Amino acid sequence: MRKPIIAGNWKMNKTPAEARALVEALVPLAADAQCDVVVCTPAVDFAAVSEVIRGTNIKLGAQNMHWKESGAYTGELSADMLKAYGVEYVILGHSERRQYFGETDTTVNLRVLAAVKAGLTPIICVGEKKEEREAGYTDALVSYQTKIALSGLTADEVRHVVIAYEPVWAIGTGLTATDEQANETIGVIREAVRSVYGDAADDVRIQYGGSMNPKNCKGLMAQPEIDGGLIGGASLKAEDFSKVVHFDA
Ligand code: PGA
Repeated sequence: MRKPIIAGNWKMNKTPAEARALVEALVPLAADAQCDVVVCTPAVDFAAVSEVIRGTNIKLGAQNMHWKESGAYTGELSADMLKAYGVEYVILGHSERRQYFGETDTTVNLRVLAAVKAGLTPIICVGEKKEEREAGYTDALVSYQTKIALSGLTADEVRHVVIAYEPVWAIGTGLTATDEQANETIGVIREAVRSVYGDAADDVRIQYGGSMNPKNCKGLMAQPEIDGGLIGGASLKAEDFSKVVHFDA
């Protein structure tokens, strides 16, 4: 059985003081969650957030990392820098990184390999744009993105990664994939993993992401292939995020 995992992606929101207030409100609300609970915060919030969540069931995640250990890479952060703050998860290949910052399937793969080597759990994002879905490319595209992202990992390493299926047209738009659409495409991603790594595919947790919120989380989480959510907007308020971690309609 795969344990569900709900992760908040705060994106470029919350100063350290705001971050502290949000997690202080979240800790008691999320204490009885039955799933893994992660908050992926801006790096400047790591210190404040890690202090508040110490000893609780909430884990800390980052939103990106570089694949090199150190060097002349202005503006980047290494795995060791994240780990120094207690970071355990890292989002990689988010569509906003791909769209606005030139991230490619190849650089996503380099980051995934470095994260796994460092003992971090990657949350690897894949997903199609609106015109790609309309043209009928969704299954081929998400399969390709998934296989490249995982390339070079062993089957045992693949068992421990998290994948987030995030249709680009559903992110921050208020449009959500239907429960069935999300379930079907996540099934396609799982079969892509199976075609290379065999039954490791049964252990990989695959989240849905894209306007998931307190209203639609129950239906999505009831789908057999959906193992959790990557939550943007609805992770910025403790009450909303708490409802999602309880799959509460
Ligand atoms: P959203 O963002 O929930 O605000 O659509 C999800 C994401 O980008 O991870």
